[in-house]
Amino acid sequence: MTATLTRRRGLVALLVLVVLSTNLLAACGAGLDENASGEQVYNARCSSCHRKDLSGGIGPALGPGSEAVDRPLEYYEITINSGKGRMPSFGSSLTDEQISRVIDYVIAFQDGS
Ligand code: HEC
Repeated sequence: MTATLTRRRGLVALLVLVVLSTNLLAACGAGLDENASGEQVYNARCSSCHRKDLSGGIGPALGPGSEAVDRPLEYYEITINSGKGRMPSFGSSLTDEQISRVIDYVIAFQDGS
């Protein structure tokens, strides 16, 4: 095998590795911008269980007409920070600002705005 061929194989392997790890990061939702809007946080971290339209799936519905509408703000903060039942906690993976933005987004969605 020539030296050129070996080097080219090395490059291809490197490229495959870069593509794979980028996809993995995206799948984990890593790289969520610190300034991400409430909607972006919701779509990245919540919609897989509560659905994009908040109609519920693995997690209960959060949208208009759901029980979540009557919950106090504190309940949202505790549930999202600490998790509940099958819902994971987000206190260490989201900043306080991201959590407050995602709550604003959910409440605005309930109000139809
Ligand atoms: C892995 C699935 C999953 C993810 C991801 C998830 N949730 Fe949940 N969520 C649940 C489940 C399951 C419950 C019900 C927990 C219980 O009552 O035992 C729940 C409950 C809630 C509740 C309380 C609803 C109520 O009426 O009691 C709120 C609010 C909520 N989730 C918001 C969020 C937000 C905001 C995010 C994203 C930051 C999120 N969830 C991400 C599964 C998930």
